[in-house]
Amino acid sequence: MKKHLLYLLCPLFIAAANAQESADTQALRDYAEKSGKKIGVAVPVWRIDVTNDGLPETQAVYNNFNILVAENEMKIDALQPNRGQFEFYHGDNLVNFAERHGMTVRGHTLCWHKQVSGWISSDGGQKNDHNYSREELLEILKDHITTVVTHYKGRVHEWDVVNECLADDQSIVRTNPTAYALRPSVWYTGIGEDFIDSAFVYAHRADPDAKLYLNDYGVEMQGSAKTQAYYNLARRLQKSGIPIDGVGLQCHLTVGELDSAKFDNNVKRYASLGLTCIVTELDMSIPDLGAADAYEKQAAEYRTIANVLIKYDHCPNLVIWGVKDDQTWRRGEPLLFNAAMQAKPAFYALYDVYKEYAENLPAGIESTAADAVGELPPFVDVYDLMGRSVARQMPRERIYDLPAGLYIIDQKKMAITH
Ligand code: G3I
Repeated sequence: MKKHLLYLLCPLFIAAANAQESADTQALRDYAEKSGKKIGVAVPVWRIDVTNDGLPETQAVYNNFNILVAENEMKIDALQPNRGQFEFYHGDNLVNFAERHGMTVRGHTLCWHKQVSGWISSDGGQKNDHNYSREELLEILKDHITTVVTHYKGRVHEWDVVNECLADDQSIVRTNPTAYALRPSVWYTGIGEDFIDSAFVYAHRADPDAKLYLNDYGVEMQGSAKTQAYYNLARRLQKSGIPIDGVGLQCHLTVGELDSAKFDNNVKRYASLGLTCIVTELDMSIPDLGAADAYEKQAAEYRTIANVLIKYDHCPNLVIWGVKDDQTWRRGEPLLFNAAMQAKPAFYALYDVYKEYAENLPAGIESTAADAVGELPPFVDVYDLMGRSVARQMPRERIYDLPAGLYIIDQKKMAITH
């Protein structure tokens, strides 16, 4: 009987399988890094003590993932609860944990219509009920973003700058294919559409090296109006010269919703804009936990998503929105680990995808071999796969200090692994 099918029947088997998998095979993150990819999780820092490397949760995180995001502790209400009072304790603990374990951090999120401090908006970000002027709100936004991004400069390598700024109703697209409709929020109502542009500019000025993302949900499958609206907004920002590096597809899905072709077609087209396209908050709820093959179906759809992303150079990240099923914001056991921290079939599905890819790297991708250093010029220019400069005239031996990933070095695509 397939290993995964035993999952439902024999918990002892799972314990042995976990021990077996983790004992004598490389971890998920090793295969992701060999593939030049990042695979990560959102960590509920207020529920998982990231200062304690001995917990089953923290060990599973640093053994299997190479990118992290704070589920709540880097949002506006957590970082600046009162005007001018910044609280970095929990965020710093997460960043310290990541650095201890050779992981990178995504910052989530600099500008949103939820979890906004009461002194900015009494209802958490929907209304400008303090009646701030445009100038006052721009100053508040600029001060928050500049202070936070400066604090984490060089330690948080990418940010969800603006989160969920699109309205859910994008019927406007049916009559105007290049249009989009923004969601009412304290920012949009008080400043106007250019709150988005300003947020990106403030973040870029604070840390020019950080990768800056737009992030939203319901924008995963080509064909939906909101998906088209999202593409339209990203294109408008990019064409306006706003320093946007990519888009995040949150992927809060339910098993049975995923259309592989529509997802693939949507993801693929961001490359033509010169934007990266990443999955930022993947969770996959099971509608009927009693169904005989519930966990297998969930695993199959996790596999589908990973198989789409791994094909594309412009899709470097896959982040799961939570560690274990009893600590998720959703019903339906949507994550990779169950409440007992046992890896589910969905975990093994991702593991198989990254292992298969890493062990069969497509032609043209070479792993960096230390012995090659001696044969080439001592200094090297490094570019990302979108052709953007990462480093100029870097001492060649320093290329191993680059974050794991795919680069163009000596005019060749190279995977830096750690
Ligand atoms: O901090 C308090 C804690 O002191 C208290 O003991 C506890 C129990 O009442 O509540 C805690 O606050 C909760 C917070 O999560 C945890 O820090 C809030 O009530 C709860 O509303 C909040 O939910 C978060 C939600 O965003 C808020 O909109 C979820 O954990 C978080 O997973 C979710 O994440 C969002 C992304 O940021 C954006 N994309 C959608 C995604 C799901 O909504």
